[in-house]
Amino acid sequence: MHKNFYITTPIYYPSARPHMGHAYSSIIADFFARFKRIDGFKVNFLTGTDEHGLKIQRAAEQKGLDPLKFCDEISQTFRDLSKTLNLTNNDFIRTTELRHINSVQYLWNELEKSNDIYLSKYSGWYSISDEAFYSDDEVENFDGKKRSINSKSFVEWVDEESYFFRLSKWEKPLLKYYADNPDFISPPSRKNEVISFVKGGLKDLSISRKSFTWGIKVPKDKDHIIYVWLDALTNYISALNYPDLNDSLFKNFWPASIHLIGKDILRFHAIYWPAFLLAAKIPPPKKIYGHGWILSGEEKMSKSKGNILDPIEIIDKYGIDPLRYYLIKEVSFGNDGNISQERLEDCINSDLANNFGNLCQRVTTFTLNNCNGTIPKEIKFEKDDLKILNKFKDNLNIIRQKIDNQDINFYIDYIVNSLFEANKYFNDQEPWKKKDDLVRLNTIVYATLEIVRKISILLYPIIPESSLKALKIFQLQEKDVNLSSIVNNDFLLKVDKINKIDILFQKIKKNND
Ligand code: ME8
Ligand code: MG
Repeated sequence: MHKNFYITTPIYYPSARPHMGHAYSSIIADFFARFKRIDGFKVNFLTGTDEHGLKIQRAAEQKGLDPLKFCDEISQTFRDLSKTLNLTNNDFIRTTELRHINSVQYLWNELEKSNDIYLSKYSGWYSISDEAFYSDDEVENFDGKKRSINSKSFVEWVDEESYFFRLSKWEKPLLKYYADNPDFISPPSRKNEVISFVKGGLKDLSISRKSFTWGIKVPKDKDHIIYVWLDALTNYISALNYPDLNDSLFKNFWPASIHLIGKDILRFHAIYWPAFLLAAKIPPPKKIYGHGWILSGEEKMSKSKGNILDPIEIIDKYGIDPLRYYLIKEVSFGNDGNISQERLEDCINSDLANNFGNLCQRVTTFTLNNCNGTIPKEIKFEKDDLKILNKFKDNLNIIRQKIDNQDINFYIDYIVNSLFEANKYFNDQEPWKKKDDLVRLNTIVYATLEIVRKISILLYPIIPESSLKALKIFQLQEKDVNLSSIVNNDFLLKVDKINKIDILFQKIKKNND
């Protein structure tokens, strides 16, 4: 069985500081990376910044800065954000790095060798905001200007010499690839959109520009800059040391398990990227998952619309784990979702403070007061205890399958239900009334502690800091977090004392409280 897992986020444009949409993709990717790691996989998790192209060049010009200097600054804010979000990425790639530039030029030469590139002339629409070419039927009139019907970003007319990639040649192979790999484009709702676009006919793709300079040069024609998407997509393999196919990173982690992206950039990932790779005789990634958008009101939250919510402000106010929990739970994964501070506060109060935090506090306080702070060892499980304890064992493989289908909604519901049941179990069993039946009292305490341990492990991919705080009750550390140990009901028999821990989540005072 392959125990390697490679997950990527999009590499973000450092044209402005990161916003909540970027934080969202990165947090979700980190969730999967952490889950797979505690399930025994060797994980490679990549993120980074996409620094070339006209969009960045113009943003730098507006600030009167040299583009690289401009990128240095903003790329650093993305790198800082990955720390603030508590991401466990193994690498952070910048497309201005030499390792990447070399890979892109190598790939270009491969595409030339396979006769997939030719020189001609491009006349058509170009959106700088999307860094995308659009045909006549993809644009509309707006305010005396032209804009993309789909993304609503303005387009300009381009008429210049350009190299082309023979995308049309890959129409049939792509359709076959989608048919042979039914999970390649996920969720399923996004698949049809891509397939019908390809079936509608693929035109050859312009892959170089002559009218600006900020980018990677075409190897044998320095007047041309390589199209920024051909450049950017290659990051996923340049970070694995492509073209060194014998490098252990490339050997262990390519093809990628999943490129996690927003649905805005599906076409580039599900059509262009596998076509480039097939042409270069490199296997395409296993899966492209296009998640939905975080909305602000009715609209996509985006830099160009100026309606962004700053993740740093939210984290300063509430902490990182509440934000992670909230985004993972409240934005139904795969769909668009609205976010609000009001709902975030509700989530902290009801799920994190009342449900999880309270369970941890109650059972530890009870153990300290009634069992001397020692984990009881003289226990005798009854039906009620086994019923709740064994659920974790019975569901572990289902949980794994659901995660492999990116069913985060199932995962979070499973945890919320488990917390609810655990609190109910402790209440219904009334250990405080069992002081003359110590075996029963001990058993209830022991079982509840086991449940806290199991749920804390399940929570680790979502709220790692708080999960590790809770696991300190049992002196467990990050290296001890192991998903398959949730099947054990005798794990805590090896642990002696419990630690008292601080309150995990402070309740937020709300106006109507
Ligand atoms: O497209 N809701 O970079 P980008 C959810 N450089 N996710 C959002 C979002 C929102 N409102 N806004 C952005 C690029 N995102 C290219 C990618 S990859 C080889 C090159 C997330 O800075 C989402 O993942 O515009 C989206 O696909 C990505 O940020 C776009 O970031
Ligand atoms: Mg964008």
